[in-house]
Amino acid sequence: MGSDKLLFIEDLHKYYGKHHVLKGVNLAVNEGESVVIIGPSGSGKSTLLRCINLLVKPDKGRIVFDNEEITTGKIDVRRVREKIGFVFQHFNLFLHLTAIENVMLGLIKVKNYPREKARRIAEEALLSVGITEELWNKYPAQLSGGQQQRVAIARAIAMEPKLLLFDEPTSALDPELIGEVLKVMEKLANEGRTMIVVTHEIGFALKAADRVVFFDDGKIIEEGSPEQVILNPKTERARRFLFSIRELYRLE
Ligand SMILES: Nc1ncnc2c1ncn2[C@@H]1O[C@H](COP(=O)(O)OP(=O)(O)OP(=O)(O)O)[C@@H](O)[C@H]1O
Ligand SMILES: [Mg+2]
Repeated sequence: MGSDKLLFIEDLHKYYGKHHVLKGVNLAVNEGESVVIIGPSGSGKSTLLRCINLLVKPDKGRIVFDNEEITTGKIDVRRVREKIGFVFQHFNLFLHLTAIENVMLGLIKVKNYPREKARRIAEEALLSVGITEELWNKYPAQLSGGQQQRVAIARAIAMEPKLLLFDEPTSALDPELIGEVLKVMEKLANEGRTMIVVTHEIGFALKAADRVVFFDDGKIIEEGSPEQVILNPKTERARRFLFSIRELYRLE
């Protein structure tokens, strides 16, 4: 395995009871690559991200992350998760903590940084996603959805993860707030961060993804450059799905 491969997934399977949800996923992600996963509801996209972050245990197959197999029983889950940032659809901020305290928490509790150092890093992370000082001491309920999601992104990047996972980060947002979050994600991709983004935002994929993966029924059925997969899909299944998405997003 080349050392530029940060993530390597081989023949991954997951069952929920008798329901075969992941049916042999193979995916490799290089350092610095930004990969968009697109596909119908229920096809297993979130399950795949959750397997990578060890929130879900696969039944078969291997995941190698940062030169270490993480699908063995012996792995230190906490140490792996420290290297992976996860941004959820519903932000998952702590509601009783302010914006800056949300970002500082992991730096203090997981990285054991002193408060002052944590605060400095948190401030920098918040500024990098466009959350300026007057918002730092607000609680999530006092922020817009777009601001909350940017705080959640700041919280993820403050930990300096090697891999960022985004699970439909804009699908809970009002349309006018989606752009500000996508802009931040585009910046992260341009900075060369390694990220996997589950999203139906094909405009974002065309601008910021190095590769697009089309997922259906527990498997990758097509992958390639954004232009190829989105604008000129090879399989009938991807063609039909992307056609409906393009209609919805009015992309020519
Ligand atoms: N914890 C669980 N227990 C049982 N079944 C589950 C569980 N999580 C997911 N599933 C099922 O697994 C399948 C894949 O779910 P998953 O959430 O991975 O799909 P998805 O592609 O992310 O869909 P969406 O686009 O709607 O988010 C679905 O049929 C779902 O109902
Ligand atoms: Mg999902």
